Amino acid sequence: MTRLLLAITLAAAPYLAGADTPPLSAGDLAAGAAIFERRCSQCHGLDGVNYKGPYLNGILGRESASVPGWDYSPALRAWQGVWTEDNLRLWLTKPQDLVPGTAMNFGGFRTRTEDRDRVIGFLMAHTP
Ligand code: HEC
Repeated sequence: MTRLLLAITLAAAPYLAGADTPPLSAGDLAAGAAIFERRCSQCHGLDGVNYKGPYLNGILGRESASVPGWDYSPALRAWQGVWTEDNLRLWLTKPQDLVPGTAMNFGGFRTRTEDRDRVIGFLMAHTP
């Protein structure tokens, strides 16, 4: 029994190490996927292809405005940030507040912080 528990703990360790937020439950992840589908997927892909916006697979930790072949707005090019979890929170709350003049035509989650955080969790799952 102890050995089994140890094996489970070790298997889970890489996902838990260094995480400053609790791991998402399967329910949160499914909710995040549904929110992405409804609010983001008309412009963004997770398959390395640019649609009406740059692809978002691998977005966590990526430098802003760095997808090859995507014609970013001068505002986002000038911003020169990194898409950390905190910056994504600010961006998705209200893009125009973080980067005034951005071409992303999305009003933001504003007060819907749970939806915002679920979609960020979902994006994390698409960052290797
Ligand atoms: C109407 C289309 C549209 C919608 C909807 C949209 N985006 Fe965007 N997004 C864009 C465009 C266009 C850009 C590039 C903005 C610029 O150049 O200023 C962008 C940029 C981004 C970036 C920065 C990418 C980079 O490479 O720096 C992130 C992150 C992002 N969007 C996430 C999201 C998420 C998450 C959602 C859903 C909650 C979403 N977007 C909804 C069009 C959209």
